[in-house]
Amino acid sequence: MKAIVYEEYGGPEVLRLKETEEPHPGPGQVRLKVVAAAVNPIDYKIRRGWMPQMGPGLPAVPGSEAAGIVDEVGEGVTDRSVGDEVLGWTDTGAYASYALATNVVPKPADLDWETAAALPVATETSARVLDLLGLKEGETLLLHGAAGAVGGVGVQLAVARGATVIGTASPANHDYLRSLGAIPVAYGEGLADRVRAVAPKGVDAVYDAAGQGALPVSIELRGGTTDRIVTIADPAAADLGITFSGGGGGRPLEDIAGYARLAAEGRLRVPIVRSFPLADAAEAHERSEAGHSRGKLILRP
Ligand SMILES: NC(=O)c1ccc[n+]([C@@H]2O[C@H](COP(=O)([O-])OP(=O)(O)OC[C@H]3O[C@@H](n4cnc5c(N)ncnc54)[C@H](OP(=O)(O)O)[C@@H]3O)[C@@H](O)[C@H]2O)c1
Repeated sequence: MKAIVYEEYGGPEVLRLKETEEPHPGPGQVRLKVVAAAVNPIDYKIRRGWMPQMGPGLPAVPGSEAAGIVDEVGEGVTDRSVGDEVLGWTDTGAYASYALATNVVPKPADLDWETAAALPVATETSARVLDLLGLKEGETLLLHGAAGAVGGVGVQLAVARGATVIGTASPANHDYLRSLGAIPVAYGEGLADRVRAVAPKGVDAVYDAAGQGALPVSIELRGGTTDRIVTIADPAAADLGITFSGGGGGRPLEDIAGYARLAAEGRLRVPIVRSFPLADAAEAHERSEAGHSRGKLILRP
């Protein structure tokens, strides 16, 4: 089968399209014929060798979320059949013709493949963080990185809870944030004053989906406390005594199936920035690493 493989850590140029052995499912797994795989920033962070505790080691096939068609079923799997269209997390690299998976849910027939591939990480992460923050109706949330794939979903889920959301993004994304239901503010120098101007009573909780150094100003805007501030991306969290919420598994799969249905109904958006052929994975990683995507980058094996 075709797969994107890297044999050393480094820049996007280490990604190569190769012929590799097809995987076959073990107990509890299915095999997907991958129709669309989503690119996540963690994929380039692992590829750079920045996260030695994560990822498959070397050689590696990147990618952990995809949508595809079940074409083999492992021992003990009773709820999936050959031919099922599904989306979810892959156990083997998703940037490939075939991938093994345990945690998948049905893809609604009227949900496009790219959006299906883009949903699992963004929805699971943002739902997990809003739960951790205990965000309630009538509260005000400050969300750093609101124009990103994860942050954009965070805005929509928070608005659906009845919260007021102040989202940070570059000015080019402010109309987009308004369309999601957030009050946009520009990040960078002077952020605290801009947030106070739109939230004179202060913010009840902070969700940092950007990881770009906004934790100290978040503490300031929370009145000096680290309570109800959660980051998913800023390694400074530990030193500041702020909660870092890491990786996956925090939500039941039924919730992800529910988000897929909402997306199929047009009630949850995960914009697709661009869909690339599998061979162009390096270009997709360059784009991801630049850090200013408004939504998801997709690979089509
Ligand atoms: N811990 C977890 O469970 C978990 C799960 C998923 C993702 N993550 C991490 O969360 C981060 C976001 O992931 P993603 O998939 O949403 O990435 P993404 O789609 O690439 O989002 C990038 C966004 O960040 C915004 N941004 C860049 N600099 C910023 C700044 N200084 N302040 C505020 N926003 C800024 C950009 O907005 P502009 O274009 O407007 O600048 C862009 O929309 C990544 O670091 C990823 O690794 C963690």
